[in-house]
Amino acid sequence: MTHPKTLLATLMGERQPIPPVWLMRQAGRYLPEYRALRAEKGGFLALATDPDAAAEVTLQPIRRFGFDGAILFSDILMVPWALGQELSFGVGEGPRLTPPLVDHALAALERVPARLEPVYATVARVAASLPPQTTFLGFAGSPWTVATYMVAGQGSRDQGETRRYAYADPGAFGAVIAAITAMTIDYLAGQIAAGVEAVQLFDSWSGSLSPAQFEAYVIAPNAAIVAALRTRCPGVPVIGFPKGAGGKLPAYARETGVDAVGLDETVDPVWAHRALPDGMPVQGNLDPLALIAGGPALTSAIDRILAALAERPHVFNLGHGIDQHTPIAHVEALLARVRNPG
Ligand code: CP3
Repeated sequence: MTHPKTLLATLMGERQPIPPVWLMRQAGRYLPEYRALRAEKGGFLALATDPDAAAEVTLQPIRRFGFDGAILFSDILMVPWALGQELSFGVGEGPRLTPPLVDHALAALERVPARLEPVYATVARVAASLPPQTTFLGFAGSPWTVATYMVAGQGSRDQGETRRYAYADPGAFGAVIAAITAMTIDYLAGQIAAGVEAVQLFDSWSGSLSPAQFEAYVIAPNAAIVAALRTRCPGVPVIGFPKGAGGKLPAYARETGVDAVGLDETVDPVWAHRALPDGMPVQGNLDPLALIAGGPALTSAIDRILAALAERPHVFNLGHGIDQHTPIAHVEALLARVRNPG
């Protein structure tokens, strides 16, 4: 019998005649119903820590579009918050973490794992109300990407401060990576216990690392997370998304043990199909700007990806998060094209 959840089945290695679809950041500012609820709650963190509201935001894109996957509404910076940094999201600026570890010791932070409890409560609420064909995805940031925010206290263009810190004091930086890795394992196991069916590791900044640092700070900690989850939560697929990894993708796929890999929009899916292990599920990789453009540019971009990945398990997605200026009608057009190709 075919699995009713086509996304979960694909992540387990079963190719589908029509690839399942979800979009990174599908719950978010391009949706008027999201903007309304966020305004009512007074901000992102208030929304993310209110289980009823966060469950509602998780379900909004499912109700509107019928995506095959629902991704938990939360943020990768919940782990630094649970490790004891203060977290804020100012209007019109990126997230802030204080104190930044570039000049404060990790050991001085007091862990607050209870800060993750509302996330587990959100998961339980969503799990109880998802349609039976929808796969529920949890997530966390990968240790390197999370570390770039913890060290600098904010986002940056090239993660220079964190890369310098890692070269200057590999002992201290290794301890930061180890702390994030341990908390992330507990966090993902907690999400799974509460009801998510697969998890994704977002490594948004893996593209800025030298080969040796990629090995130490991307491959090794992700392999540790996957190995721990295999023991604690057997059978739950892990998607790795090392954005910007480029030519390092095949090594990442082989050495981390992830079940599936996400491709960013710069990766040629024809190359990825040749270079990645046979049968490994692949996710991606429409350029979010093609989705904003719409029309024939969108249709041909979708068709190229579908053709390139037709011979392996494929989850259709963007190459990174959906932009807040994306027209709703273009998301509808994307779904129509993937589900009913011309
Ligand atoms: O995919 C989803 O819909 C699930 C929710 C989700 C959010 N953030 C919600 C969010 C996920 C998976 C993330 C991941 C995330 N968060 C990453 C990795 C993926 C990526 O986009 O690169 C990173 C680096 C972050 C850190 C972060 N959170 C930044 C840099 C920002 C500010 C930039 C921005 O887009 O506003 C956030 C805030 C954030 N996280 C928003 C959402 C919907 C916007 C908050 C708002 O203003 O409403």
